[in-house]
Amino acid sequence: MKAIIVDLPPVKKYAEECISKYNASKNVTFLPSDFMKDELPKGVDIILAFNIIHGLNPAENETLAQKIFKSLNPGGMYIILDQIKGIGGSSQMSKATTSFMALNLLHQAGGKTYSKSEIDTFTNKAGFNKTELKKLNAPGFGIVICHK
Ligand SMILES: C[S@@+](CC[C@H](N)C(=O)[O-])C[C@H]1O[C@@H](n2cnc3c(N)ncnc32)[C@H](O)[C@@H]1O
Repeated sequence: MKAIIVDLPPVKKYAEECISKYNASKNVTFLPSDFMKDELPKGVDIILAFNIIHGLNPAENETLAQKIFKSLNPGGMYIILDQIKGIGGSSQMSKATTSFMALNLLHQAGGKTYSKSEIDTFTNKAGFNKTELKKLNAPGFGIVICHK
């Protein structure tokens, strides 16, 4: 299995330190890139976006999802891990965590936390027509798997 870490150019130094520390350079490479401006590598099976969508507005998330759809092989998966609004049902802890995070993100970065149906809106527009939500143990956190 090969993996490509995509992040902005200033992250290169830290990513390469990590790759070297774990002797992972045969399988893991770093690609300095701005995913809002540049194309993503093509012909990949899985794309992970962990703690990414909360920093982007809905239009930016739609653009990113479109790029990801184009990059994935048929049958590929776009896997989102993030705080998911409403995931905790009646859990007060989960509601408090996602609400606090949403407020913080709005002030710090113009971002927000998204519900599963909001995620479906931008991933469906990009072409993903089957998505599934899996709850994680950490309050408010979940994974959304979008199938191409
Ligand atoms: C909240 S951190 C999440 C990092 C990691 N995925 C994790 O879960 O710990 C968001 C990351 O996205 C990167 N990022 C933000 N905007 C980006 C862009 N336009 N292109 C590439 N990377 C970007 C940031 O540099 C940062 O490393």
